[in-house]
Amino acid sequence: MSVNLSKTHMPSLAVVGATGAVGREMLLVLEQYNMPLSSLRLFASSKSAGTTLPFRGKPITVEALAPAWYQGIDCALLSAGSSVSKQIAEDAVNAGLILIDNSSAFRMTPGVPLTVPEVNPESISLLKAAVQSQSRSGGIIANPNCSTIILLMALAPIHRAFGVSRAVVSTYQAASGAGSQGMDELLDQTRSVLNGTTPLPKVFAEPYAFNLFSHNSALDPVSGLNAEELKMIHETHKILSDPSVRISATCIRVPVMRAHCESVNITLRSPATLQDIHRVLSQAKGVEVIDDRANNNFPTPLKATGGDNVLVGRLRVDPSQHSPGQSLDTPTLGFDMFIAGDQLRKGAAQNAVQIAQMLYC
Ligand SMILES: NC(=O)c1ccc[n+]([C@@H]2O[C@H](COP(=O)([O-])OP(=O)(O)OC[C@H]3O[C@@H](n4cnc5c(N)ncnc54)[C@H](OP(=O)(O)O)[C@@H]3O)[C@@H](O)[C@H]2O)c1
Repeated sequence: MSVNLSKTHMPSLAVVGATGAVGREMLLVLEQYNMPLSSLRLFASSKSAGTTLPFRGKPITVEALAPAWYQGIDCALLSAGSSVSKQIAEDAVNAGLILIDNSSAFRMTPGVPLTVPEVNPESISLLKAAVQSQSRSGGIIANPNCSTIILLMALAPIHRAFGVSRAVVSTYQAASGAGSQGMDELLDQTRSVLNGTTPLPKVFAEPYAFNLFSHNSALDPVSGLNAEELKMIHETHKILSDPSVRISATCIRVPVMRAHCESVNITLRSPATLQDIHRVLSQAKGVEVIDDRANNNFPTPLKATGGDNVLVGRLRVDPSQHSPGQSLDTPTLGFDMFIAGDQLRKGAAQNAVQIAQMLYC
């Protein structure tokens, strides 16, 4: 069932995976951003069919994905996992839909834009032109990996200004990155531990409450890198159109409900001062610098939760890349920073809605 929201000629939108952690956030962001829509349809698995989700004060009935589900739809935001995206993409694109896909299914596919609006808006210019000429030629735009988006919100402006030759990244990733089941696991296990019972891991192999562990994605036995770390490397290269930026990543799941953090050590190509880095980040769209040394006030997951901006702080010269005895005001190549971003929003739903806005508004 669809709800007519506007009489003007606006896109007819669908959210596939609407009942999930990202899907629900998409509905919230669509409301908050006042996205112009002619209609909105919601899809999830057959388990959720017939339930309702509120949107702009009205309930919308969730539908199961049926053959030809895409009829009458202009654009679909997909967040139902890679296998669903792969299963439904071809027919939908052939029917003229624009798919904005949150899964990893098409991110590295040549010709598919991998887009962070603040970083590489030009990547969707062809599809934008097609939408605006109403050619209905269809296509896929991939939303990057959540940790990669959060990293690049801070790294890309610095790269544009001074060139980044190397970044060493350690992540502190929240339960919500693993969807509703990941959040349930953290809550259930925390309750169990506090009640004095032994938690039973279901989603993650390791106990989650009062623990942290290497990211749960598949690990390549040869390189020792897990899929999340590989995504940060390969997706960064594609988004920046610069495979020369060397990235080393260690991705860790921490017992935080929502919002990922990242500790980032960078090496620049051209020297800069700490003030230069501060200025570039302060001027970057979608970035908020929280760097109050006097009060030990820096980015945290709770400060990032529910917000649009990626928070950056702990900005400092890396002493291991700076000559001992030289003033900290001397231009140098190495810096450290700490980032926090709500990965359900900027790392997923918000980024996807921003892309839809770029296409249709
Ligand atoms: N969580 C994040 O921070 C994040 C960030 C970036 C990207 N992503 C990606 O976004 C996608 C969704 O993640 P999530 O965290 O929102 O997961 P989630 O909370 O587990 O939600 C999954 C959604 O997919 C639906 N679904 C599952 N199987 C389906 C099927 N066969 N047909 C139609 N719908 C189906 C589920 O419907 P039911 O409720 O009916 O089962 C639910 O709406 C994944 O590809 C994930 O990698 C997630």
